[in-house]
Amino acid sequence: MMDTMLHDKHGRQITDLRISVTDRCNFRCVYCRSADPENCHDESEILTWAELDRLARIFVALGIRKIRVTGGEPLVRNGVESYIARLRALGVRDVSMTTNGHLLAERCDRLVNAGLQRINISLDSLDAAKFERITRTKSFDVVMKGIEAAQNSALRPAKVNAVLVRGLNDDEVEAFAAFARERGLIMRFIEFMPLDADRHWTRSLVVPAAEIHRRIDAQWKLEQIPHERSETARKYRFADGAPGEIGLIAPVTQPFCGFCSRVRLTADGKLRTCLFSKEDHDLRDLLRGGASDEDVAFFIRSVINEKEEGHRINEPGFVPPSRTMVFIGG
Ligand code: GTP
Ligand code: 5AD
Ligand code: SF4
Repeated sequence: MMDTMLHDKHGRQITDLRISVTDRCNFRCVYCRSADPENCHDESEILTWAELDRLARIFVALGIRKIRVTGGEPLVRNGVESYIARLRALGVRDVSMTTNGHLLAERCDRLVNAGLQRINISLDSLDAAKFERITRTKSFDVVMKGIEAAQNSALRPAKVNAVLVRGLNDDEVEAFAAFARERGLIMRFIEFMPLDADRHWTRSLVVPAAEIHRRIDAQWKLEQIPHERSETARKYRFADGAPGEIGLIAPVTQPFCGFCSRVRLTADGKLRTCLFSKEDHDLRDLLRGGASDEDVAFFIRSVINEKEEGHRINEPGFVPPSRTMVFIGG
């Protein structure tokens, strides 16, 4: 039998797709967007739901098993619940979403009814004023309500993500760990990557995962939990049996590219084989140019075969990608 699974020339199987459904966002997080207005794409350049349906069908036939719906902020695009329902109807067993949580409290029931299974919510500070400075919005209370709504819903598990930036929110490591224990949720710390629009990233702003581990472990002993090879996070439980879990995502100090199983589809229909790709591959033009499903599938296979071995953040002469996180999808 022909091997239909997607794989690359480095021997990695590609089973996860992250689909950005919009490049718009109602936040302006400092580690992602600029304070200045950025140009998002015209609506005509963004894939229609019908195009997104067709691509999902082709990717699933090629062996994609996990789909994460992202943005920008996915909840700002109308119709995202119906899209999730159609992904489930296609037979995708793991459908998840990454959101900033702003619209989550009011949309949680609809997402669950659509068949969404898991959700990751960003929360970069437990202090309302600092949250405002980081996200450049006044949304702290509503995001906290969104997290509560997710925890009270059928979404399992609810994970909370904080990008730590030195001097900005790294004083909150212990407070976030206490939050995980009190709420019984998965709190994940992400190392800041050079994907910010303002190009302020420097190595000195990265808070290494090892430091986070040391600080939490000094207060509450941590025990490692096994993880899937392709998972981004190293996972820990509290040795004293308290609820909650800690996840450390260390793309800068402990790159996990060797086990990467992910590719991304941008809102404007580009296939992106790495967060740090120098080049995107245009699926939208293929679709709009009348290509058959077989043509599109062949193109996807050949692009994925050439997936980069890894990011080069730690190599001399590293140049950040021209598109920032809001345009790539988290
Ligand atoms: P789950 O395991 O399903 O929870 O997914 P996840 O951890 O990949 O999802 P999430 O969107 O919460 O990702 C967390 C963060 O990990 C992202 O915001 C990125 O900062 C980082 N990340 C995710 N995928 C990649 C990747 O392919 N490469 C790198 N370098 N970082 C990634
Ligand atoms: N470095 C690391 N993670 C980032 N995200 C956005 N920008 C960056 C960055 N520069 C993450 C957010 C969220 C997802 C959408 O992307 O925290 O989890
Ligand atoms: Fe919006 Fe997410 Fe970027 Fe924040 S990190 S500005 S919520 S896309």
